Amino acid sequence: MYRVAAIPGDGIGPEVIDAAIETMQRTSAITGVGLDVTTYPWSSQQYRDTGVFIPDDGMLRVKNSDAVLFGAHGDPAVADVLAARGLVFRLRHELDLYVNLRPIRLLRGVRSALRDVESRIDFVVVRENLEGEMVGHGGVSGGDSPAGVATDLTVVTRHGTERVARFAFELARHRSSHLTLVTKSNAIPHALGYWDRVVLEVAEQFPDVRVEKLYVDAAAAAMVGRPHTFDVVLCTSLHGDILSDLGAALVGGLGLAPSANLNPERTSPSVFEPIHGSAPDIAGKGIANPIAAILSGAMLFDHLGETSSGDIIRAAVDEVLEKGIVRTRDLGGTSTTAAVTDAVCEAINPQMALERADRST
Ligand code: NAI
Ligand code: MG
Repeated sequence: MYRVAAIPGDGIGPEVIDAAIETMQRTSAITGVGLDVTTYPWSSQQYRDTGVFIPDDGMLRVKNSDAVLFGAHGDPAVADVLAARGLVFRLRHELDLYVNLRPIRLLRGVRSALRDVESRIDFVVVRENLEGEMVGHGGVSGGDSPAGVATDLTVVTRHGTERVARFAFELARHRSSHLTLVTKSNAIPHALGYWDRVVLEVAEQFPDVRVEKLYVDAAAAAMVGRPHTFDVVLCTSLHGDILSDLGAALVGGLGLAPSANLNPERTSPSVFEPIHGSAPDIAGKGIANPIAAILSGAMLFDHLGETSSGDIIRAAVDEVLEKGIVRTRDLGGTSTTAAVTDAVCEAINPQMALERADRST
């Protein structure tokens, strides 16, 4: 029996996490994989009511679970930075989730934003998740005066870079042995020059993996111009954040893009979440696309070693998208979150997972 902690969060978070749990439970009813899901109402609403995002015993409870499914944070009534630090950054840091894995794959039946896609789009952004540009080291002095100064430091450590690079190179070895090193060391020479140096040192231990170094601006252009040449894309936190939204836009939008925040050594549970935010513009309307969250549930199963359960969910999503009848508005349809969830649940069956495995070999 796996213990899963679900933290739906804000906005469309609860809508899409309900959908993900429903599909996971439907899958486990077929496969016999036991799931015990506990939902925690940690949100900006709770913060407004109680002054805390995660209660005192909260982290302990999360640490006692096998994996975490997270929705999104972000509420117009609470400063974004407070919610980010109070929820998702806290989970990432306290659980030591130093890898942020963001697969970008054009699914059958989905039209790419690019008019001509030469061949398939199938790559993974490996984003350093704990340091880089988003550590919050910095400050403001002089405030509103003409002498105002604001800084945010970029932090790159040997330890942090080595371990995420090793993860990315290992992953490349299991895919097509190609790794893109994303950087901006021409303009940010100290932190990102060091990033390049340490990554290239790690590369020496993986002579079978080809490395292409791209500056982040050129990488953005290449991702649009020649997306088929990307396989594993290793980035610092800010660059990975931006390039994975760009990648998601290429393969149908944020509503389809799942992610994993991984602790590869498994000293604490990993956190799975769609890459999108709380989407306040559509929250509460029942029209959010649940597929990104549902595919995050599939990644959670994979991480637990239950890859056939993950495959069953992915096959069901493929089936629904390929038929093209039940789709939310972001994909040009008119269906609700609930209708898409029901369609995916109906498509969940073990036979289909087997057929899918056959087709992809
Ligand atoms: P967002 O990802 O919430 O929304 C961007 C656009 O994509 C919106 O038009 C939204 O309607 C659409 N969208 C996103 N997910 C969708 C889905 N599942 N189905 C259909 N359409 C979808 O990003 P935005 O607007 O920049 O931020 C909104 C809030 O979310 C902010 O408070 C931000 O801080 C927070 N945020 C939280 C994240 C997290 O929890 N890890 C990540 C990104 C943003
Ligand atoms: Mg983002």
